[in-house]
Amino acid sequence: MKKVKINDIELAYRDEGSGQPIVFLHAFPLNQMMWDKQVTEFSSNNRVITFDFRGFGNSSSAKAKSTLPMFADDLAGLLDHLKIERATICGLSMGGYAAFSFFRKYVGRVSALILCDTRATADTDEARRGRYELADSVRSKGTSALIETMVPRLLGETTLQSLPQIAADVRAMIEMAQPEGVAQALIAMAERNDSTDLLGRIDCPVLIVVGNEDKLTPPDEVETMSKAIDLSKFEVVSNAGHLPNMEQTGIFNQIVGDFLRHV
Ligand code: MLT
Repeated sequence: MKKVKINDIELAYRDEGSGQPIVFLHAFPLNQMMWDKQVTEFSSNNRVITFDFRGFGNSSSAKAKSTLPMFADDLAGLLDHLKIERATICGLSMGGYAAFSFFRKYVGRVSALILCDTRATADTDEARRGRYELADSVRSKGTSALIETMVPRLLGETTLQSLPQIAADVRAMIEMAQPEGVAQALIAMAERNDSTDLLGRIDCPVLIVVGNEDKLTPPDEVETMSKAIDLSKFEVVSNAGHLPNMEQTGIFNQIVGDFLRHV
C-alpha cells in the first residue's frame, strides 16, 4: 500500500500491473480491500488502481466536510500523480456515486464505466434525514452500531447463510472505518447531486452490474437506470447481494473481464 498527499489529505492507494488502466471505487462504509480479488485477477492484463476514499481505510480524513465532487477531485489528483490520462472507472454503490461525480467533472478522463449496485438518483428526503441521524450517532457512539445494521443489508441471503467468511471480512472493514470519515461520507451522500441528467449523455462503453439479492439497490431499479444509458450492457449476478464482487467473485470477474476485453 502506498500513500500520497492529494489535495488536503493523505491518500492510501495500490497501483498494480500494467496495460489499460482500471480504477475500482469502493462502497460505504468499506475500503479498497473489498477489491482484493479484482486486483489479483485483473493486474495480469491491466494496470489496476484502488484507493481508500478520504476518511476510510488508511486515507486520512479532512477537517472540512467531504463532498462527492471532492472524492472525484481526489481521484483526478491520484491519476495525475500516476501520470494516467484516461481510465476505466468501476464504482460500486457509493463508488458509483463518485464515478458519476468524476464523469461530470472529468468526462475526458473516462474511457469506460462499470457501475455496480448503484443509482443515479439523489436521496429522498427520508433517506437524507436518516443519513444525518446516522452521522450524529456515529460521531457520538462510534461505528459499532453500523456493523450490526450494515452487514445484513450489504450481503445477500445466500451469502449470509453459506459464506460466513465474507461476512467476517465485511465486518473487519467496517471496524477499520474512521467515525469522522464515515459521518462525512454520510453527509456527502445525503447532499449529492442527482445524476440522472448524465445518463443520456454517456457515450463511452458502460457495463452495469447488480446482485439479484441486492436489498439496497434492487435489480429492478438498476435495470431502469441501465435502460436510460445507450448501449449499456446490463448483467445480474445470481446469489449475490450488494457486494457481488466479494459474494460471487468468479462470476463477477468473468463479467468484468469480458467487458474489458471489448473496450
Ligand atoms: C454503499 O454501499 O456504498 C451504500 O449502500 C451507498 C448508500 O448508502 O447509498
